[in-house]
Parts: sequence; C-alpha cells; structure tokens
Amino acid sequence: MTTTAIWQERDREHHLHPFTDARALNAAGVRVITKADGVYLWDSEGNRLLDGMAGLWCVQIGYGRRELARVAAAQMEELPYYNTFFQTATPPAIDLAAKLGELTPAGLGHVFFANSGSEANDTIAKMVRRYWNLRGRPEKKTIVSRHYVYHGVTMAAASLSGLAPMHTQFDLPLPGFVHIDAPYWYRHGGDRDPEDFGRAAARALETKIAELGAETIGAFIGEPVMGAGGVIVPPKSYWPEIQRICREHDILLIADEVICGFGRTGPWFGCETYDIHPDFMTIAKGLSSGYLPVSGVMVHDRVAELLIAEGGELAHGFTYSGHPVACAVALENLRILVYEGIVDRAGAETGPYFQARLAALADHPLVGEVRGVGMVAGIELVEDKAARRSFDEGRKVGATCRDHSLANGLVMRAVRDVMVLSPPLVIGRAEIDELIAAVARALDLTARDLGITP
Ligand SMILES: Cc1ncc(COP(=O)(O)O)c(C=O)c1O
Repeated sequence: MTTTAIWQERDREHHLHPFTDARALNAAGVRVITKADGVYLWDSEGNRLLDGMAGLWCVQIGYGRRELARVAAAQMEELPYYNTFFQTATPPAIDLAAKLGELTPAGLGHVFFANSGSEANDTIAKMVRRYWNLRGRPEKKTIVSRHYVYHGVTMAAASLSGLAPMHTQFDLPLPGFVHIDAPYWYRHGGDRDPEDFGRAAARALETKIAELGAETIGAFIGEPVMGAGGVIVPPKSYWPEIQRICREHDILLIADEVICGFGRTGPWFGCETYDIHPDFMTIAKGLSSGYLPVSGVMVHDRVAELLIAEGGELAHGFTYSGHPVACAVALENLRILVYEGIVDRAGAETGPYFQARLAALADHPLVGEVRGVGMVAGIELVEDKAARRSFDEGRKVGATCRDHSLANGLVMRAVRDVMVLSPPLVIGRAEIDELIAAVARALDLTARDLGITP
C-alpha cells in the first residue's frame, strides 16, 4: 500500500506546485487529499476536514455527486472527444451553449468555450482587440483593471491581475494593461463614508481615462466582488458609477464571474447582485463545480453580432474548447443546481445564515472587519481595531490562523491577514455551525499565540 510518506517523497522529487514555495513544501511534506463527500475532505492519514473553500471556490454542488460521474462515463463511451473548430460541434457543447444563453443575464447570448478562467480572460483580452480593430479604432486597446484583483495566470490574465508578485516575477504587465485602486474601504477608506468612498474609487477610472485619453481605452475589467484579492466587497455606489463612466467613454465592460458566478454571491451571477450589464462575462469554476475543467466567455449580442458579421475566421481557439465530456458534466451540474434549488436555497436561507453567524465574530479582539455576501466572506485580522492597523507582514498572522484552522479540521484560506471562506453552496445549517465554531477556535488560538486574551 502506498503510504503518506511515499507520496510525500514522490511529490517532493517530481511535482512542482502552483502558487507554492517549493522549498518550504518539501521541508514540510505535502498533505495528500484522498477522498471527499458533501462538504468534507479526507487526507491520507484519515483526517476529516470541513472544506470552507469549496476546493478553490468552485465545488458549488459539493463532493461525491454520482450523477456527474455517470454522465461523464456515458459521454466518454458515446463520444469522448471531438473538436468544435472546423464547422463541427457536439451535442453537449451545443446544449451547454444554449443553456448558458438562458441562465446568464439578458443579452449575453453567445459563449466561447475554454478550459480555465485564465484562458477565458485571455480570450476576452483578444476579443477586445478584435472588436476595436473591426470598429476601425485600433488605438482603443488598453484594458483597465484594479490593484489586488486576481484574473488568472496566462500572460494576459496575469497582466490583468493586480497582485505585485505576479507581475514582478515575470516582467508584467504587458503593454496595454493598467491598474487603478480597488474599492477597498476598510483598508483605504479612512474616515470617509463608504458610499462616498465607493464613488471616489470608481472615479479613479475617470482619472485614468483623463490621463491616457478615452480613445486609447478599450475595456474595464472587474470581479463584482473581488475574491482572491481578499473578498473585497464594493460599496453599493461603486458599480453604478463604473458603468456610467464606461458608457460615457464608449468603454467595454468585462465582468469576471469566475468566483462570483453560479450562486456564490446569492443570485446566479454577481452581475445580478450589483446590477451590472457587461459586454463580456467570464465563467469557470462553478460552471462544472470543478468536476472537470471548463470555462467560457459570455459575449453580449452587440459584440457577438459584429464579430459574426464582419470578423471572418476568428484565429483563436483551444483543442478542448467545448470538450464534450466537460460540457456534459457542466450541463448535469447546472441541472442539479437548478432542479434541487441549491442556488436558490443558498441565496435565500443558508447564505444569510452564514453571514449572520460570521458577523458575530466581529467582536473578537483580532477581527477588524467581517465582510461578505451570499456564500463568500472575508475576516480581516488587525493589530489595532480602532485604528484599523494591520499586523506587520512578517508576523504571518493570517498564515498562523489558517494553520490552526487546518489543525482543527477546517480548510480556511489566508489572503494576507484576511481569512477567506467560500464553502460549497450545499452546506447546511449544522455544518455552518461547525464551521463557525472552528473559525472561532482558530481565532482564539491565534490570539493566544500573539499574547492577546480573547
Ligand atoms: C476571478 C478569477 N478570475 C480568473 C481566475 C483564473 O481561473 P483559472 O485558475 O481557472 O485559470 C480565477 C481563479 O481563481 C479567479 O478567481
């Protein structure tokens, strides 16, 4: 039998992990996850973990749904692969395209399939260029993004991202990608009223336009709520103002729904939560609940019609665009999310319960702010609550809290010192209670380590 030690040794010798300090991991030894069911994972040592992150913000439906396995097996037997390049398609790709046309906000009637959120955002960066070339405005190409945000790792997606190491390690961003400040009231809002701050944060786009000239700016990209940047929830005033500015300057609007989509913020899409009307929408993760890799770019009809009528052959696509097995699994996932009312229940009942229970943790001496919407939340840990002052980065307070959480059976992630939660949408009230107790315990143990009395 393969033991944990053997796996760790093989992993150390042969496996390079994403977003991981390899030397530190090799010293510690990897944790091997071997099975999962519902909202729980098990590791190779038999420890059970409550997955407060739904994998990487993606397993909306929970683990162990055999219907998805059966659909995948049946599709593999019938037609395991065919492409969508040369005037061909497969039934699952066609049916999923039609289903997404129904399910996503009005006007987003076309989809281009890819395999990851990064590829989908890369595709959008290229479509923006193609669109403005076709409109006879080849100078209108720059895409404005925000600091803190994560849009993926390919060259264009990493350029869109606003996290410093993703740029410095690879000499990015590429030309044509610029960043403005994020609507991060808790960290940057000072004494300002959150709604005033939200409007001002949006007007940073106007300032950037004035600096570069509207004739050079092709698009603005934003996640409705920033996930991996530390669950940054914008003030209500933010998105209306961003949309006003985009409309006034003829700038395309891209909503990255890789995390927010498929019920994470309550309604089916973050665009519905914030009344956003984008030209492009990025979808991935919850589209298949992570059971197989599949992503898509939803394209508004007003853009798609130009690409179709005047674009000729689109010189872009992936071998696995519209992969039949991935599309069949996505369709079954969507069927279950709708049929079992999973998104509706999380939006109306369990999401609000999750937020209410978390809000009570705001009294803890380490907690500066609890923020969230639907089934995603961030708990920002600070040294001085009144002054909203962070701990020194070197103290690694977030990582300490994450380690206590893991040791006590809960997967919770640390982004800087923001503790991040995004559980499967199927999580029930009793499991939420268990999650909250584990978070509270991790906070207490972290406070104890810091010499603070909870
Ligand atoms: C908002 C957002 N966009 C894009 C991506 C990239 O997706 P992927 O890892 O599938 O390439 C992520 C991944 O977490 C994300 O959170």
